[in-house]
Amino acid sequence: MKKGLLTAAIISISCSSTVFAASCDDTRLHGYMENIKDEMRSMSSDVKSGDNESAAKRANTLITYFEKARSETPYKFTAENLQGNELKDQKAEFTKVVDDTIVVLKDLETALKSGNSSEVKKLLGAMGNQRKTGHSSFKANC
Ligand code: HEM
Repeated sequence: MKKGLLTAAIISISCSSTVFAASCDDTRLHGYMENIKDEMRSMSSDVKSGDNESAAKRANTLITYFEKARSETPYKFTAENLQGNELKDQKAEFTKVVDDTIVVLKDLETALKSGNSSEVKKLLGAMGNQRKTGHSSFKANC
């Protein structure tokens, strides 16, 4: 009986760890997003202190993170068990928003290098909008 209980406990522990391994804050995409958040914050500080050169480098780093994020699948799609064409369409929508975000970042890098501060302000606002669009469409509520 005791042995049976122990076996049950072991099975239950190993099963639950498998389930939690794919939880929503444990994805590669989530990791890239945390990097994006940190880099965005540092870029804003650079802009505020007038260090456009450093900010432009960060815009470039952000592009590389979004390029990596592009090939990931949002957890929401897994949680909703999307399959077939629905999954294909949603993935295409996701990569489109990522691509639009990369275009904003490329323009931002150019504006920072040329010191066009009104354009920089506009494009930082555009990044905020990309974030809103991306999260409202593809981020799970968890
Ligand atoms: C300035 C731009 C962005 C910032 C600072 C940002 C930041 C974050 C952060 C911190 C998280 C972790 C969860 C949370 O704390 O809410 C997250 C999650 C997420 N973000 Fe972003 N994000 C940005 C843009 C985007 C864009 C453009 C997309 C989509 C095209 C996107 C899609 C997602 C998704 C899908 C998750 C959930 C992670 C998962 O499904 O595994 N984000 N983001």
